[in-house]
Amino acid sequence: MNEKQRLESQQIKQSDSTDVKSEPNRNLDRLKKLSSDELISKYFQTTYEPPNLKKARSRRKKDVDIHYDFDIPLEMRAVGKGKKFLIRTYGCQMNEHDTEVMAGILTNMGYQSTDSTDDADIILLNTCAIRENAENKVFGEIGHLKPLKTENPDLIIGVCGCMSQEESVVNRILKKHPFVDLIFGTHNIHRLPKLINEAMFGKEMVVEVWSKEGDIIENLPKVRNGKIKAWVNIMYGCDKFCTYCIVPYTRGKERSRRPEDIIQEVRHLAAQGYKEITLLGQNVNAYGKDLDIDYGLGDLMDEIRKIDIPRVRFTTSHPRDFDDHLIEVLAKGGNLLDHIHLPVQSGSSEVLRVMARRYTREDYLELVRKIREAMPNATLTTDIIVGFPNETDEQFEQTMSLVEEVGFESAYTFIYSPREGTPAAKWEDNIPMEVKKERLQRLNALVNKQSAEAMKHYEGKTVKVLVEGESKKDPDVLSGYTERNKLVNFKGPKSIIGEIVEVKITNTKTWTLDGELVESAVEVN
Ligand code: 5AD
Ligand code: SF4
Repeated sequence: MNEKQRLESQQIKQSDSTDVKSEPNRNLDRLKKLSSDELISKYFQTTYEPPNLKKARSRRKKDVDIHYDFDIPLEMRAVGKGKKFLIRTYGCQMNEHDTEVMAGILTNMGYQSTDSTDDADIILLNTCAIRENAENKVFGEIGHLKPLKTENPDLIIGVCGCMSQEESVVNRILKKHPFVDLIFGTHNIHRLPKLINEAMFGKEMVVEVWSKEGDIIENLPKVRNGKIKAWVNIMYGCDKFCTYCIVPYTRGKERSRRPEDIIQEVRHLAAQGYKEITLLGQNVNAYGKDLDIDYGLGDLMDEIRKIDIPRVRFTTSHPRDFDDHLIEVLAKGGNLLDHIHLPVQSGSSEVLRVMARRYTREDYLELVRKIREAMPNATLTTDIIVGFPNETDEQFEQTMSLVEEVGFESAYTFIYSPREGTPAAKWEDNIPMEVKKERLQRLNALVNKQSAEAMKHYEGKTVKVLVEGESKKDPDVLSGYTERNKLVNFKGPKSIIGEIVEVKITNTKTWTLDGELVESAVEVN
């Protein structure tokens, strides 16, 4: 079986309808045709597999294929002429960036973007599966879209992103939301033109979710959100298999892009005038491990720092793979910003062990020490989960003390949410919700206090701000971020949007800074 046949056999379903004649009310007819159980047995007769730790682990040995030949078939290039698309994005930066790729594909098919569901001919929900509440939001939104579909049967509603990689989600949509036209997975984005064609002209829901991984498609079009900051994928997937996390199943195995492809993309962005890039991956510190060359994130950053783009960030880091070479390169500074997002998840070595994080509290603190030694001004932020199964009061207190010891200036904090198919979901979720909530509140109060204290240090100081646009609250105020990712609001001419300017801080709040533009700096820019 060649690679292509293997891929085809791993699809849940790939409709082969190529009938190009539209039929009136075809989507509503479709609902009457098959019962939900019939639909499920129809779609799940092939090799789709729900999350399976043992099998997923063995995938690491599979080869990665890189494709440079993405193309939109000629007959699909005008399909969207006079039509509009809307993509709702949930979750992380990876999803945001996937949305930019889907927008690129749709634009190349003739569609224009819209913000209004009433104007849209195609609505895609790019979903997140990381916690149950993220999924609930999406199901709520799917419900809200139903009346639109009843009014306009030609509207195409699609669900994609991480949730669509989960069998239980696909089952639920098939059973409860049969008006959805299209479900496709995170490995199927490049197939969008074909899938839309099938959804338009076929009579049944189109479901294509490849559980395969191993491919990188290099030349996908993108419509980036803005001209100031850009995401650049450096790798896909995750092989860490933290016991609570669904990502290694929804995003597949670690696949690094070739350095030359990444560098070319960054150079191109620099030439287009972008001021900031963020290198993206679920576990960027594992960058290069799967390549056939001896090359890691430190090497990549060392090359990117020579490119004429003012600001370079990267996310997300895993403490386990954060090596000395990377620290050495980051310490060179320049366009490499010294803000490091370093998820710790817990301050207890025992909890970290059951989370399969593969480092201890002491290892983490030692890494922080090394980072601080090399970059004394580095800002550290983190992710923390509270209420993991069996987490004792004492273990939670260790998280609190670690937060203080490191002095995180901000943190994303979460209540543990069991994810079907992950190892932790088999353990009793035995911390009562009131206890989880109380722990979260205490943790948040501490993080807020530390953030406010860190902000106080900026009083009277002058910082460099990349001006992103008008503030969300007040169109007369501009806002942007400092090198250490602090949001600054200040008054100034709209002409400086997209520039890096100096702002003197006049007032500090818990999460934001207010300031005044340093006029001389504008002339320089
Ligand atoms: N429950 C709660 N939080 C989770 N995260 C990942 N999986 C879960 C889960 N099952 C958090 C981790 C991760 C961030 C992106 O989301 O803190 O770093
Ligand atoms: Fe999930 Fe991050 Fe752990 Fe990977 S490293 S399994 S993405 S928490």
